Amino acid sequence: MWQDLKPIGRNPESGGYRRYAWTGADAECRAWFEAQARSRGLTYELDRNGNQWAWLGDPAQGNAVVTGSHLDSVPDGGPFDGPLGVVSAFAALDELRRRGAEFTRPLAIVNFGDEEGARFGLACVGSRLTAGQLTPEQAHRLRDADGITLPQAMERAGHDPEAIGPDPDRLARIGAFVELHVEQGRALDLSGDRIGIASAIWPHGRWRFDFRGEANHAGTTRLVDRRDPMLSYAETVLAARREAELAGAVATFGKISVEPNGVNAIPSLVRGWLDSRAADQATLDTVVEGIEKAAREYGDRHGIELDVVRESFTPVVEFEHALRDEMARILGEGRDTDIRVPVLGTGAGHDAGILSGSIPTAMLFVRNPTGVSHSPAEYASEDDCLAGVTALADVLEGLACK
Ligand code: GLV
Ligand code: MN
Ligand code: MN
Repeated sequence: MWQDLKPIGRNPESGGYRRYAWTGADAECRAWFEAQARSRGLTYELDRNGNQWAWLGDPAQGNAVVTGSHLDSVPDGGPFDGPLGVVSAFAALDELRRRGAEFTRPLAIVNFGDEEGARFGLACVGSRLTAGQLTPEQAHRLRDADGITLPQAMERAGHDPEAIGPDPDRLARIGAFVELHVEQGRALDLSGDRIGIASAIWPHGRWRFDFRGEANHAGTTRLVDRRDPMLSYAETVLAARREAELAGAVATFGKISVEPNGVNAIPSLVRGWLDSRAADQATLDTVVEGIEKAAREYGDRHGIELDVVRESFTPVVEFEHALRDEMARILGEGRDTDIRVPVLGTGAGHDAGILSGSIPTAMLFVRNPTGVSHSPAEYASEDDCLAGVTALADVLEGLACK
């Protein structure tokens, strides 16, 4: 499976992946998913919101156990964030078949569409739409950097954008969703464990800061006469770091666009996107308010207009205790007592977090020795990935089999 996926959307210069929603690379990933489903005799389904499902058993029976993740990536992402959960899901099913497991509940493997939000700026579009946390009207307004709207992109990829929207009937048939994911930090490496169970996801959001000044000549405009929004932006980046440090949170400006974007022109507009996350809502509010205040103060002194728009927000997620405890029990059974499954919080967002408002969800993490993620250097060893498959198979067997 890894060999099939390896070349899809890979940027040969960075070695990273560019698998953005509704592009050719995304279509190739989707074709791969469908082929995997069909080759195992599973019933393949593409839902209204662009999520792919592979069913074993009859979904109408209800109380289904679902596992999977996403196949799209951030710009120059690593190979594991997303695909590890999908590949492990198929591999875990293969393992259960080898074990001769008898299923008492329907099982589905899912590939959620547009998890990273790399193209349209909003993460988890497929699961948000399904859960009713994003309305079709809001989704229809999303645009990529080239001005292509989400409906246009869907149409070009052969998907009907008018059909998107909440899918409560689908969610009502699901009893549990378990997402396996590469860890995006070093907690497991530091504790010396291969596998962990997620406890919570930090609240997180994305804010767009538009700094507007005045375009002018880089050579002839005296420094004192300038209204240079780049300076306000730079001050704001430093303020973000300061505020996050003070609060024990994180804040990142990782994307920027500049107009007119000329080497010899003072910019008229600098648009920067802030991603900020903290352990609790009050801390996150304090951090973002502090950054915005600093941005305004500096801008006011230099004739810069500032607009701040919150583009997305995901509140804190505390994974369901009953499912979490059940997984810990299943994974503890029949193993050496020195194999521990630590319970970890994370600052990364996931479809499991979105769906946790509607159905019981849980996550398994696989050790990442450097903790690097959203980068080509993201890594998990083959042994740890195989331990992840075994753990996922055990969990699915415990939940869905006799
Ligand atoms: C998704 O991976 C996110 O945490 O932004
Ligand atoms: Mn990610
Ligand atoms: Mn992910």
